[in-house]
Amino acid sequence: MSIARTVNPPSSGTGERGLGPGPGLGPTVQAAERAFVDHFGRAPQWLAAAPGRVNLIGEHTDYNGGFVLPMAIDRYAIVAAGVAVDGGGGGSGSPSAGAPGGAPGGEGTEWQPRIRVYSTALETTVDLPLGPALCPGEPTWANYVRGVVSGFQRRGLAPPSLDVAIVSDVPLGGGLSSSAALEVATATMLEAATGGTLDDREKARLCRQAEHEFAGVPCGLMDQLASVLGDEAGALLIDCQFEVVRLVPFADPNVSVLICNTNIKHALADGAYSRRRGECAEAARQLGVPTLRDATPEMVDAARGIFDPVVRRRARHVVTENVRTLAAAQHLEARDFGSVGALMYESHRSLRDDFEVSCPELDVLVDIASEIGVPGGVFGSRMTGGGFGGCTVTLVRTRHVAAVAERLAIEYHRRTRCNLTHFVSRPARGAHIIDPTEAS
Ligand code: GLA
Repeated sequence: MSIARTVNPPSSGTGERGLGPGPGLGPTVQAAERAFVDHFGRAPQWLAAAPGRVNLIGEHTDYNGGFVLPMAIDRYAIVAAGVAVDGGGGGSGSPSAGAPGGAPGGEGTEWQPRIRVYSTALETTVDLPLGPALCPGEPTWANYVRGVVSGFQRRGLAPPSLDVAIVSDVPLGGGLSSSAALEVATATMLEAATGGTLDDREKARLCRQAEHEFAGVPCGLMDQLASVLGDEAGALLIDCQFEVVRLVPFADPNVSVLICNTNIKHALADGAYSRRRGECAEAARQLGVPTLRDATPEMVDAARGIFDPVVRRRARHVVTENVRTLAAAQHLEARDFGSVGALMYESHRSLRDDFEVSCPELDVLVDIASEIGVPGGVFGSRMTGGGFGGCTVTLVRTRHVAAVAERLAIEYHRRTRCNLTHFVSRPARGAHIIDPTEAS
């Protein structure tokens, strides 16, 4: 299987600010507000925030109706927006005053309702016409916004013409759901701009549909639900079949969640992700169950004869991961971090050997973490997110976290010649509107 992989340069300004709790939302919100003011010449009416997530355990189970245990992280996509100053009506020659990018369509041409989006990361502005049937297109980064707008339109919530500025400190392409954060922040802003309120699950589903139809990634619902429902008190145990979410509190100052970025960029849209989905669906079909949620490790074992070995390994990962995830949630709640850590290592091995979505750099990081082990303050470690690069998540005793991170960075570079970036995150609050007066 050939997987396109690119090595990101070590990041600066991508939210990987080192150890200790992050600076919180403030600086990112202020950056978004400033970007809006600089670009559109007035203050935004709405500031919407949505976090990325790190998945503690339960990988590639969401689209199989299984269990996941993500935690929203204190890295956010912020969408600053205001109604276009011409009021958003159509008609000829009614440009959006104050926009340095110039009037859509140029002087004297028919002006269409549109959403003008400025990305600070790319320093690019794009106009998305608000036609009746939005389609994915260029530039591709704007497809997340197009997709969410389209979801609102389909639900009869037509947005007015808007100016929008986007700032995010969720590392891009690191398996921390930077795209879900952008989708959910956009949806949260559109709720305010249209006056429509979506049920939390419906909002997550709308954003997942945007990812499916406009970004071409047939993902499950974990990332979007975690971004909508994130809670500062802990992780979320999500039953993906029934979309039932339970808070698993684990606020313990002695334990830190360390996120390490291999800086190998994953590419879920390259087909590997959807192939895994297909293999899981095939396994369920052969087992005679609607989804792998309804299968057990014993069933997969007993069906040895009928399975293609690859399909069988995929199924084995999913059914054992479901068991691990439920057990990990119990141990987390009981503050039995040693047992959570052991399950994290098992999960990594299963993802590496049975599901085959790890990569050498992720394996090296998990190996180093396990070499440090409990005596050095590490409870457990695993890859997190879709795989093929991105990040590991490591549960570390807080007083060891600086030493652990340093050893990981040095050893990672020695063994791979790649640079590691890392940060610690607390569980974070899910998507919300920020009062602009609070931001400044
Ligand atoms: C990506 C997808 C999620 C989930 C994970 C793997 O993050 O967006 O829906 O499938 O991969 O657990």
